[in-house]
Amino acid sequence: MVFLADSLKRIKPSATIAVTDKARALKAAGRNVIGLGAGEPDFDTPGNIKLAAINAIERGETKYTNVDGIAELKAAVVRKFKRENNLDYKPSQITVGTGGKQVIYNALMATLNPGDEVIIPAPYWVSYPDMVLLAGGEPVAVVTTMESGFKMKPEALERAITPKTKWIILNSPSNPTGAAYTRTELKALTDVLVQHPHVWVMTDDMYEHLVYDDFAFTTPAEIEPKLYERTLTLNGVSKAYCMTGWRIGYAGGPEPLIKAMAVIQSQSTSNPCSIAQWASVEALEGPQDFIPVHNKIFKERRDLCVSMLNQAKGIQCPKPEGAFYVFPSCAGTIDKTSPNGRKIANDQDFVTELLESEGVAVVQGSAFGLGPAFRISYATRTEDLEEACTRIQRFCGSLQ
Ligand SMILES: Cc1ncc(COP(=O)(O)O)c(C=O)c1O
Repeated sequence: MVFLADSLKRIKPSATIAVTDKARALKAAGRNVIGLGAGEPDFDTPGNIKLAAINAIERGETKYTNVDGIAELKAAVVRKFKRENNLDYKPSQITVGTGGKQVIYNALMATLNPGDEVIIPAPYWVSYPDMVLLAGGEPVAVVTTMESGFKMKPEALERAITPKTKWIILNSPSNPTGAAYTRTELKALTDVLVQHPHVWVMTDDMYEHLVYDDFAFTTPAEIEPKLYERTLTLNGVSKAYCMTGWRIGYAGGPEPLIKAMAVIQSQSTSNPCSIAQWASVEALEGPQDFIPVHNKIFKERRDLCVSMLNQAKGIQCPKPEGAFYVFPSCAGTIDKTSPNGRKIANDQDFVTELLESEGVAVVQGSAFGLGPAFRISYATRTEDLEEACTRIQRFCGSLQ
């Protein structure tokens, strides 16, 4: 349509949202569908956080706020970064946006000029490359392998850096693989970055609290203080606090960058929801004891998925360190024929046939920059997960 902007031609709608919508439509049509596409916890927002929101409404905290966050939330974020990441930020170095998504978007819009490159290890969260493209930059994918645990090697990072590199986006634990860098692995990457002062680091720590088996989370500016002046440390309440719908994300970074991001926000959405901001103060400052309770359940579900998927014919599923995703390879199913008589040429075909034959909705790995594979979000009821894995086993077993 000629009326639409050219910039729209550079991007595509989110594949994860597309799968969720398709599963919802099939369900509405009466099909028994198990959706493993959505990246959000199935747990409800904890009661103390809901109550903080109700209290905020009753106090009349229902007006416009400071564009990039109320002072109370910025102060809570400052304390969080100190307490959990040993990072010192001043309130003027903190920004709060409508979800982590808006914070990333603001940072890219505020910094990218045409031709600027952004290094993104693949598999990546679907939105990174498209946001870079929308902001006029060039995403540079560095493809990792299952054998390397989906982690970027320092040599690969070194090779990807050019004079045009503006950012690298790191995401550990990762969506879609669940892979998380150990301190030693991350240090190897920060050692490379120290040598390239023109490259800034955007670290998306959204899944910080979702790690299992005593894994110790770390973040680049904590490991390598030399990177502090050029790192944006990003986080949010969506995943750990089960607050995806509340839409609050935040970041700490150098003041000039934070100010520029606020300018973008001031001319687009203005402040994030006042009520959700007050709820987020409670999330960060209130009891944290539900996190290990949730993590115990997530870990059991991860182990269930890994074990059941590895018993499915043609599937190979590594065990990730964190988040609530597994990213199995379906290489062993390619070129086979489904019970409907259709050939599976790639992972897109695999997920389509799986949805049509067995009513299990997953997302194709190629949407995240690495196939043939698929992503399962195990943030769903354990019984549904078990049933879904049984159906995947049956589907794979039926391929000829
Ligand atoms: C890696 C990653 N970063 C950022 C986000 C965005 O989170 P929010 O809901 O806070 O916008 C998500 C959500 O799926 C994610 O997986």
